[in-house]
Amino acid sequence: MLTDYSRIVVPYDHSELSKKALKMAMNLVKQDEKIELYVVMVIQPEIQLAYHYAVPIQDRREEQFKAIEPIREEINQELLKLPNKTRTFVLEGDPARTIIDFVRKNDADFIVMGSRGLSGLKELFLGSVSHYVVQKANCPVLIVK
Ligand SMILES: Nc1ncnc2c1ncn2[C@@H]1O[C@H](COP(=O)(O)OP(=O)(O)O)[C@@H](O)[C@H]1O
Ligand SMILES: [Mg+2]
Repeated sequence: MLTDYSRIVVPYDHSELSKKALKMAMNLVKQDEKIELYVVMVIQPEIQLAYHYAVPIQDRREEQFKAIEPIREEINQELLKLPNKTRTFVLEGDPARTIIDFVRKNDADFIVMGSRGLSGLKELFLGSVSHYVVQKANCPVLIVK
């Protein structure tokens, strides 16, 4: 079924559901080694959280890039198990818009992501990133629950 797809994007925020989405995407691409798998993590240094109100934006940026590196390395190690072409990306900006922009620019044709992410708010429906991506994507989106 998936052999029609050529490039799958997994937006990853290190939440349990994004881990599940990545696992599912890895299983999917195993069906055809020509399918590429791109994992995308979006950081938001411009977001001013109460607990680091005094930290300048450039320091927050460096802090976030540094914090994400071991996670990226862990994912790279996992991805090495696949014969497929795989890549990980760390991008910066509003996650929802950045993911949509990335998918378009990279001609991806399938997205696998979690319904919920890291935010503690227990909303009734989808999280805001998954909601936006489903609305705006020009390709199929698999929402993992
Ligand atoms: N910063 C991010 N970078 C990459 N993917 C993200 C990011 N934030 C969310 N996602 C993706 O979107 C899914 C849903 O998260 P989200 O919509 O943010 O829900 P919540 O509101 O519960 O945090 C996650 O499981 C992940 O796949
Ligand atoms: Mg979130």
